[in-house]
Amino acid sequence: MKAVVFKAPYELSVEEVADPRVEEPLDAVIRITTANICGSDLHPYEGRAELEPGMVLGHENMGVVEEVGPGVNRIKKGDRVSVPFNLACGTCRNCTAGWTSACLRANPSGQPGAGYGYPNMGPYWGGQAEYLRVPWADFNLLHLPEGTEHESDFTMLSDIFPTGYHGTELAQVAPGKTVAIFGAGPVGLMAAHSAAIRGASQVFVVDHQPDRLRLAEQAGSKVGLEVTAVNAAETDVVEAIMDGTDGFGVDCGVEAVGYQAHDASGQEHPAMVLDNLVQVVRATGHLGVVGVYMPEDPDAATEPAKEGRVAFDFGSAFTKGLSIGTGQCPVKRYNQELRDLIIRGVASPSFIVSHEVALDEAVDAYKKFDERADGYTKVLLHPDAA
Ligand SMILES: NC(=O)c1ccc[n+]([C@@H]2O[C@H](COP(=O)([O-])OP(=O)(O)OC[C@H]3O[C@@H](n4cnc5c(N)ncnc54)[C@H](O)[C@@H]3O)[C@@H](O)[C@H]2O)c1
Ligand SMILES: [Zn+2]
Ligand SMILES: [Zn+2]
Repeated sequence: MKAVVFKAPYELSVEEVADPRVEEPLDAVIRITTANICGSDLHPYEGRAELEPGMVLGHENMGVVEEVGPGVNRIKKGDRVSVPFNLACGTCRNCTAGWTSACLRANPSGQPGAGYGYPNMGPYWGGQAEYLRVPWADFNLLHLPEGTEHESDFTMLSDIFPTGYHGTELAQVAPGKTVAIFGAGPVGLMAAHSAAIRGASQVFVVDHQPDRLRLAEQAGSKVGLEVTAVNAAETDVVEAIMDGTDGFGVDCGVEAVGYQAHDASGQEHPAMVLDNLVQVVRATGHLGVVGVYMPEDPDAATEPAKEGRVAFDFGSAFTKGLSIGTGQCPVKRYNQELRDLIIRGVASPSFIVSHEVALDEAVDAYKKFDERADGYTKVLLHPDAA
């Protein structure tokens, strides 16, 4: 089959690799109809997380079941499915508690949590390819209505829609709450969409990319909420949010940027977004950190950050009594309900899609997405191996 293969930082190729097959009784093989490029894919792409050469990339996958192993009985050949990016066993202590993001059995390295085509998440190939092997298929796969309707909405169910939603869950967004979201990348935009659906009364989205901020302004239109875009290249963001909330600050803050947070000139400051959030979230408010931070980052901008030590203003966070939730999103916790919101027309996460291309165009799409080229917000790849 054809697949997007990682060779070295900034070097990918679309090439022929072995077809995945059913290896264990509980496996399924999916024919991929859509696989997205994610901001997380840029970590290995830029060499900021070490990935083994030869790995097939892609953890945002959906498609049609091509084959199932003899132990699979819920999922059938021909089913249309979404594949959560967390690859989980379904029976360990964390999985049974609903924390598939920290499965204790799926990652042979011993680190809790496994995934497809990603550093330190196990040996599993990704789905930016014609086919994908899915272990523990009955547990992991989410059924979708058959056909092709809502393809570019449903494709957000494998990761970023649940991840944005998880950010708002950790930040305890509820009806009437005020919310500040840092990062207007796909995850931040999904957090804004989720905050609106959850009934927030006021949502700010901060970034320095004008094209992404324009999308942020639409994130609440489904429910009639006007989202306020804050351009960090032009404004003092803390002042803008404090002024916009009559000096109170917001109830809830979502971090959707991660360890490569930078100023408008591109200079990285690993703690800047966390510091900003500690300032704008009111005392006893809540913070959801879904942007990724790494235990090791040899290319980090500060010495401590090379070892995962991000020196943010924890003193003020403590004094204000903020709660802080972090981590990978346990996609299965939310994906059924978010699917049904799409089917019922309440959510339409596809508003962020900027490009839909064939697998052969993946190398160029990665380059443009990595450069944050104007208008490259979310790229969907269609392998189309019918
Ligand atoms: N927790 C999870 O389960 C999970 C899942 C998916 C992605 N992620 C992570 O979420 C983060 C965002 O993902 P994405 O796909 O949206 O990535 P992205 O890189 O496309 O978006 C990040 C955005 O942050 C903006 N930004 C950078 N510095 C900023 C600052 N100081 N203030 C405001 N905005 C700033 C950038 O301009 C960019 O638009 C990444 O760290 C990604 O790895 C986490
Ligand atoms: Zn992703
Ligand atoms: Zn498990």
